Amino acid sequence: MTTLDTRKVSINFGGLWAVKDVDFSINAREIVGLIGPNGSGKTTFLNIISGIYPATNGTVTLQGENITGLRPFEIFKKGIARTYQSSRLCWDLSVADNVLMGLYTKQKASFLDILIHPQKTNNEIYECLQECMDVLSYFNPALFNRRYDLARDIPHIDRRRIEISRALVGRPTLLLLDEPTAGLNDEETMRMMDDIHKIKEKIKDICIIIIEHDMKVMERVTERIVVFNAGQKIAEGTYREVISDANVVKAYLGGSTV
Ligand SMILES: Nc1ncnc2c1ncn2[C@@H]1O[C@H](COP(=O)(O)OP(=O)(O)OP(=O)(O)O)[C@@H](O)[C@H]1O
Ligand SMILES: [Mg+2]
Repeated sequence: MTTLDTRKVSINFGGLWAVKDVDFSINAREIVGLIGPNGSGKTTFLNIISGIYPATNGTVTLQGENITGLRPFEIFKKGIARTYQSSRLCWDLSVADNVLMGLYTKQKASFLDILIHPQKTNNEIYECLQECMDVLSYFNPALFNRRYDLARDIPHIDRRRIEISRALVGRPTLLLLDEPTAGLNDEETMRMMDDIHKIKEKIKDICIIIIEHDMKVMERVTERIVVFNAGQKIAEGTYREVISDANVVKAYLGGSTV
């Protein structure tokens, strides 16, 4: 079943088409890689899907529902969660608190509830915390053990894991990962890939779009790769198919295919 479908999605920034006429789809349980040169529109495409930028043209459909033009928190509630290319953590909050922030838009208790029904509010906080603990403990048990440490005190790889955990607590049907291994060395990158595979094992029917420059990562985690160049989709296929596509070699791989 198709989870997300985009038709002729485009966005124009002051005359520049950062994304142009992109048809894209992803099915439940798929991991699709997004590659392309710097500035080719990969992040912008995720920004359109997650509602940060409204598309100039085109439609975005999630499980058959047209979500074009919805705001980011509405899209998050519908089941699309994401991480960002650059880190977005609160350094002086604990690991657990940073993850908890991912449930902010799902909070039901109002300000009045806090005053009048403190027990109800406490129960909700407890349930949210429990969800954070569940995610941390399956996603990375070592990080779960450091859940009360401040974000600033933990290594870079774990900071990346916090961001993924924060996206996962919303129980997304589609997870968007923008360069989750940026700044990691080869060994850390492979450990991160193992964690990403765990998500698929754990969450039934989730699908993942991952932007990544490391082709070794792409080969290891993706079922399909979509290639962007200058805002347009120039190729799509398995790792083997795209690395032998002449347009992709010319635009992105520059002759070295792995
Ligand atoms: N808010 C914005 N206003 C104007 N131009 C923008 C905006 N966001 C992105 N762009 C432009 O859109 C183009 C695509 O940028 P984008 O960040 O999507 O590229 P990318 O493929 O993610 O690159 P990288 O691999 O470096 O992360 C670039 O030319 C960029 O300058
Ligand atoms: Mg980018």
